Amino acid sequence: MTQQFWSSRRHHTAISRVGLSLPARRAVGDLPLERGTRVLDYGCGRGGDVRALQHLGFDATGWDPVHFPKGVREPAEIVLLTYVLNVIEDPTERRETLLRAWDLAKTVLVVSARLRWERNQIKGTEYSDGILTQRRTFQRLYAAGELRDYVEETTRVRCVSAAPGIVYAFKDDEARLGYLARQITPDGGWLASKNTASAITSVVAHLEQRGRMPRLEEMPQPIISLLSHLRPAELKRLVEQEADPVKVERSADRAALDTLLFLALELFYGRGPVSSIPLPVQLDIRAFFPSYTEACQRADRLLLKLRDDAYVRRAMNGSTAGKFTATALYVHRRALHRIPTVLRLYEQCASIAAGRPGEWSVVKLRHQGRGASWLDYPDFDTDPHPRLAASYAVDLKTLKSSFTSYANSTNRPLLHRKHEFLADDDPDVPKYRRLTEAEVRAGLYKSPHLIGTEEGWERELVRCERELRGHRLVRRTTSG
Ligand SMILES: C[S@@+](CC[C@H](N)C(=O)[O-])C[C@H]1O[C@@H](n2cnc3c(N)ncnc32)[C@H](O)[C@@H]1O
Repeated sequence: MTQQFWSSRRHHTAISRVGLSLPARRAVGDLPLERGTRVLDYGCGRGGDVRALQHLGFDATGWDPVHFPKGVREPAEIVLLTYVLNVIEDPTERRETLLRAWDLAKTVLVVSARLRWERNQIKGTEYSDGILTQRRTFQRLYAAGELRDYVEETTRVRCVSAAPGIVYAFKDDEARLGYLARQITPDGGWLASKNTASAITSVVAHLEQRGRMPRLEEMPQPIISLLSHLRPAELKRLVEQEADPVKVERSADRAALDTLLFLALELFYGRGPVSSIPLPVQLDIRAFFPSYTEACQRADRLLLKLRDDAYVRRAMNGSTAGKFTATALYVHRRALHRIPTVLRLYEQCASIAAGRPGEWSVVKLRHQGRGASWLDYPDFDTDPHPRLAASYAVDLKTLKSSFTSYANSTNRPLLHRKHEFLADDDPDVPKYRRLTEAEVRAGLYKSPHLIGTEEGWERELVRCERELRGHRLVRRTTSG
C-alpha cells in the first residue's frame, strides 16, 4: 500500500528522533537483549530508533511503508511497533498491521500507542474512532488497559503492560515468565573473575545474594571454566566456608518470599506448566520449599489475602516502611522491597494491569477498595518538601487508569515528613526527621488542612516566620 490511498497524512506523523524512543528504551532495559540480537522496527518512520539500536550493538533493521519501503521485513527476536497503530484510521488495516508485526516476532512484540490523557495536546475533530488533526493526520488514542486488551484479543496471548501505553506480547510462556521473574528479582550479575580464587569469590557473592548455591547452568562460561577442576562438593564446601551465614540466611528468606510473589503473580495471569518457569525460580522452589505443590498453595493463599481488607490494612499498619494513612499506604520506591510480601504483590498486580510509569518516586496503595497510584516527585531527594509533578492511577476493580499532570499548576501538592515514606534505616532518614521535628516545634503542622499545597505551605511558613535552607528550617529573613 502506498500513501496516496490513505485518507490521512500518515507520513507526516513520523518525527526525527535523537536517541531512543521511550518504548525502545524500555524494551532495552526490560528484555533479554544481547549484542547481536535481531530487532525489527516495524513502521520505523525516519529510522531514529533503528540507528540508536545499531549503535548499541543490536542487529537492528527497520521497515516503513513511506520512509523505508525497501527495508528488511524479516522475522526478528524482538519486533517494535512504536506509535504506529494510532496513526492508522482504518480499524481493519490497524488489526492487520498488528498481526503482521506479531507474525514477524520470534520472542516478543513491543506495541506502543499514544494514550487518551494526551487528548488535550491534540487539536482536531472526531473521525471514525479517533481524531483527525489540523495537519490531516489521524490519532487513535487508547486507554492504558484498552491497549493491552486490544493486543491480547488480536494476538490471542496474555500480554503485560510494561508502562502506560507500552505492551509486551510474548511468543511463549517461557519468555513472559522470564520477564516476570526479572521484574521481581533483577539479575544480580556476576563479578568478573580472572582466576580460581576470584571465581570462588564470585560464587560466594551469588550465594550471599540469592541464599543458595548456583547451579552450573546459571554460571557464566568463564567462571565454569575457571572452576572446572573442582568437584561440586568441594566447590560447595569452599564457598560455604567463605560466605557470611547471616547474609545467606537473610537472602534465603527474601528469595523464598520472592518465589511466592512470582508464583502468585503467575496465578494472577493463569499459571503455566512448571517447565515454563525460568530455571533460577525452579531452583529457588527446590531450595526453599518442600515441593512445587506446597509453594503454589502458599502463593495461592497469598493472592487470596490480597482480597481481604482487614488483612491488607493490618499488613499496611505493621509495615516497617511507608506512611500509613486512613485510606492508603504510601511508600518510596527505594523502600518498596521492604514492605510485606502481600503488599508487594498488590503493587506488582497493579503494575502488570496498567504498566508502572517510568518516572515515579512514591507509590500509594489504597486499603479501602483496591487501587494504586504512582506519584512522581522529581526532586524528592533534594527538595525538603517535594512537589508533585504527575500521578498515574489505576483502579484494580475496573482496571481504569488515569493520569494527572501538575506541570502547569502554580499550586502543586507537596509532601511533608519525608522520612515516613522510607524505611527506618535509610541513610537520609535522620536528616529528614530532624527537619520534621523542627517544623513541628515551629508550629508549622498546627493546621494540616492548610499545608497540602504550595501556596498554603508558603503562607504557614510566613505566619510562623520561618524559611527553609535546604533541609534546615531557619528564622525568616526575607519579607513574605
Ligand atoms: C508516528 S510514526 C512512528 C514512527 C516510528 N515508529 C517512531 O516512533 O519514530 C507512525 C509511522 O507508522 C507508519 N505506518 C503507517 N501505516 C503503517 C502500516 N500499515 N504498517 C506499518 N507502518 C505504518 C508511518 O509511515 C509512520 O512512519
